[in-house]
Amino acid sequence: MAQLWQGLTAEEWDTPQVVVHRGRLQDNIASMAAFARQHGVQVRPHVKTHKTWEIFAMQQAAGAVGLTCAKLGEAEVFLQRGVKSVLVAYPLVGTRKLERLFELMTRFPAAEVQTIVDSPERAAELAQAAAAQGVELPVWVKVDSGLRRVGVSPGAPAAELVREVRKLSGLRLLGLLTHAGHAYGAASYEQVAEIGAAEAGCLLETAELLAAEGVTGLGISVGSTPTVKVSGAVPGVTEIRPGNYVFYDATQVRLGVATPEQCALRVLTRVVARPEAGRIVIDAGAKTLALDKGAHGSDAVAGHGLIVGHEGAVIERLSEEHGVVRIAEDSPIRVGDVLEIIPNHSCPVANLTDELTAIGEDGSLETWNVIARGKMR
Ligand SMILES: Cc1ncc(COP(=O)(O)O)c(C=O)c1O
Repeated sequence: MAQLWQGLTAEEWDTPQVVVHRGRLQDNIASMAAFARQHGVQVRPHVKTHKTWEIFAMQQAAGAVGLTCAKLGEAEVFLQRGVKSVLVAYPLVGTRKLERLFELMTRFPAAEVQTIVDSPERAAELAQAAAAQGVELPVWVKVDSGLRRVGVSPGAPAAELVREVRKLSGLRLLGLLTHAGHAYGAASYEQVAEIGAAEAGCLLETAELLAAEGVTGLGISVGSTPTVKVSGAVPGVTEIRPGNYVFYDATQVRLGVATPEQCALRVLTRVVARPEAGRIVIDAGAKTLALDKGAHGSDAVAGHGLIVGHEGAVIERLSEEHGVVRIAEDSPIRVGDVLEIIPNHSCPVANLTDELTAIGEDGSLETWNVIARGKMR
């Protein structure tokens, strides 16, 4: 596997550093956009993966209709840059959250801010608050397609919530939305594909129930990166919301969703010690690589990331600023060498750094600020 920074000397890099290969990033974005065009679906990428303006600008240029995020703080950062359609796909609970939601709607009147509802109680509360503000809040009914996190069960319960939402004057129903994050726990790509088919299927079955009583034209929004190429291809789906696909990572490689070559985000780290022939220490620890081994608690990968060009090496332990790596005793790796890591989960890695270094195919470097990092509220 070719190293990203080939042509640049190891001495030039200060480490650890999170780098993004522009060419791979652009290919990933273009390929999802082509998939969406082929299947006639809109792309509303989740920006929690990169939290970066330059990358969203590329997604927008490739046709994204808006963005998905989890936090009002993330929404604000992108609304300030002129994004016209933002979905906060997270339950907004508590007075302060609702105040902030309506503040955003007031400050950015030209933009549409959407959110989700997952129960009649939440729908009534949001509707009442919206009506008191004299606004109509666009909402998706969040359906649980198997992740067992937030969402109403598909079929009759989801159809009932749709009926409730349609009765409420402060809300405008956009459609049905789900996220099949449980695909991250799959043991094979075949299982991922089954989950993807069910992800779309359960929303479409619910929509059929509603169509039988004259409720038509609902948006159908799906998408996790593992499942999107299956669920997004099911006729009737209208929108996809992949996030991780811009970078991919070692978890997507394990699932058979991406190849190592497609992984656009890498961590450059320096070997700072070789206390034994079979053990090196690198300057990327948990505060750079993140401790979670994959999205939604998936942890079937070995170690804390893939070291490019040293496939036998295992990043066995991370403390805050040290990574402890088992290598072959006859490995040529030396103290001072720069290694390139494909992390297990690229999303938290991007959230741990102030900036990404974008590497062009000609070796040119650019710094991109992770503008929504730390926007936890
Ligand atoms: C509601 C929702 N939509 C979309 C996504 C994107 O998923 P992925 O990063 O697997 O593409 C997520 C991820 O957490 C999510 O929670």
